[in-house]
Amino acid sequence: MSPNIREARPNDAAAISQLVQSSFGAYVAPDWEPTAQEMLLADTSAEKLAARMAESVVVLVYEEGTIMLGVILLPRPTLLQLCFVAPGHVGKGIGRSLWEAARARVEDRFPEARTIELNASPFAVAAYKAWGFYPISEPFVRGGAVATRMACWLPGRALAKAQAAMRTPDGLSLVGWSDSRHLGDETST
Ligand SMILES: CC(C)(COP(=O)(O)OP(=O)(O)OC[C@H]1O[C@@H](n2cnc3c(N)ncnc32)[C@H](O)[C@@H]1OP(=O)(O)O)[C@@H](O)C(=O)NCCC(=O)NCCS
Repeated sequence: MSPNIREARPNDAAAISQLVQSSFGAYVAPDWEPTAQEMLLADTSAEKLAARMAESVVVLVYEEGTIMLGVILLPRPTLLQLCFVAPGHVGKGIGRSLWEAARARVEDRFPEARTIELNASPFAVAAYKAWGFYPISEPFVRGGAVATRMACWLPGRALAKAQAAMRTPDGLSLVGWSDSRHLGDETST
């Protein structure tokens, strides 16, 4: 795991709140109705976040020195609810490193979790695609908030690697998909 990433502590709630709200204001709020913006801000106050953090299965922060630049929160193993990088620091790999660290924790601690879903802001869809999430809905508006439902099927990475390893240098697969039963029952769940 990146040395810049650590588990969030209860007293990080105020810094996380500030980070989420500034990133939301810069990149997400312009697509949302004012009432939806107000609800998000109320839901991400330091007090509300502290309560949510206490009940979540994964909450990680990314820091450079003492400056918090990113956060990721999964309230349960199958839902990524918050992922925000500070304005001016997006597109530098911070979000991806947080996602990979969170994913590793879920795979380690909750092996029964197969698929992680999220609601992506229009700004975030391309980044989530780059990390292995796929849209499972059209963009929708709910309560004035715009999102696309996306999902990452966790076994897909290992299966793709195994398939790639079985290919010959000229790109031909040595075995067919149906011959990959030794990979487990992942193709059927
Ligand atoms: C969405 C967010 C969390 C992503 O984190 P990030 O640190 O900016 O993203 P990263 O740099 O780790 O990864 C971005 C990836 O998406 C790709 N990407 C980003 N924008 C892209 C675009 N418009 N087209 C294609 N690829 C794009 C990048 O190439 C990169 O892929 P790579 O690692 O293979 O090069 C961050 O941008 C953010 O906080 N945005 C504002 C708030 C937000 O929308 N949060 C999500 C709420 S649902």
